[in-house]
Amino acid sequence: MGHVGNGNFHVFLVIVVCPEGNAMPTALVTGASRGIGLALCEAFAERGWTVVAACRRPDDATALRDLAAAFPGLIEVEALDVSDFAAIEVLSKKLTGRPIDVLVNNAGVASRETQLGSLNYDAWKSLMDINLMAPMKMIEAFLPQVEASGHKKIVAISSSLGSIAATTGGNYFYRTSKAALNMAMRSVARDLALRGVIVSMLSPGYVDTDLTRHAVGGPPKISARDSGQGLADAIIALTSGGSGEFRRFNGQSIDW
Ligand SMILES: NC(=O)c1ccc[n+]([C@@H]2O[C@H](COP(=O)([O-])OP(=O)(O)OC[C@H]3O[C@@H](n4cnc5c(N)ncnc54)[C@H](OP(=O)(O)O)[C@@H]3O)[C@@H](O)[C@H]2O)c1
Repeated sequence: MGHVGNGNFHVFLVIVVCPEGNAMPTALVTGASRGIGLALCEAFAERGWTVVAACRRPDDATALRDLAAAFPGLIEVEALDVSDFAAIEVLSKKLTGRPIDVLVNNAGVASRETQLGSLNYDAWKSLMDINLMAPMKMIEAFLPQVEASGHKKIVAISSSLGSIAATTGGNYFYRTSKAALNMAMRSVARDLALRGVIVSMLSPGYVDTDLTRHAVGGPPKISARDSGQGLADAIIALTSGGSGEFRRFNGQSIDW
């Protein structure tokens, strides 16, 4: 394996020997333009996987296009706003017959306008569309491709802020979206267990991205690259025994 420095990215040239001529696995990652999604695409590509990198505006996603150029043939950029359910159907149709080994529902938003007494309910609904409904719609739309794959994994990038047991108050929109996402994913895990599909809710850690840029205090942040590398390893290592669990990417269980 060779290593080539290229701007912001660490590029690994991987010579892949596929057993019995099987193609390398494919991951579909939403919210791939920046932050953890971008780092996940890089991590999967470094491991020789092909990646369908879905982002809202490919023309503006310079870092993702640079990453795709650094891994020729491995990263395919697709336009997808996950709040546009018709667009999810269109992408699924475009990828009909293409096995998706790992569907990573990563796209997500946070909100700071959650002061009790002045809650913006329209903003809450929009956030729920993206953080909760969209992952469900992605699962419905891409289940045939996931079931047709070797790995058969569905991953939600959740958050420890979705832990009901550990709440410290506030942050209503984001907390409820992730708590509800966890319930939905655990139910999906139960529903799909007999079909061999593994479902996991993973916390990426406290990561230095645009989403946490305004956060003050708290523990030190880890880099998006470290989070993406840890998540990719955790996802690849997932087994049916861990389906339906809510964990940090280092394997530590998180209290519901
Ligand atoms: N950072 C942390 O410490 C942390 C901790 C726990 C959980 N998480 C979770 O990790 C995930 C990624 O967060 P991040 O920290 O990487 O945040 P980020 O840097 O703000 O990136 C968010 C990503 O989601 C995309 N996105 C937002 N709305 C979208 C939509 N409607 N359709 C498609 N893509 C959309 C953004 O695309 P655009 O570029 O087009 O806006 C961007 O690629 C989220 O689910 C978040 O809740 C993060």
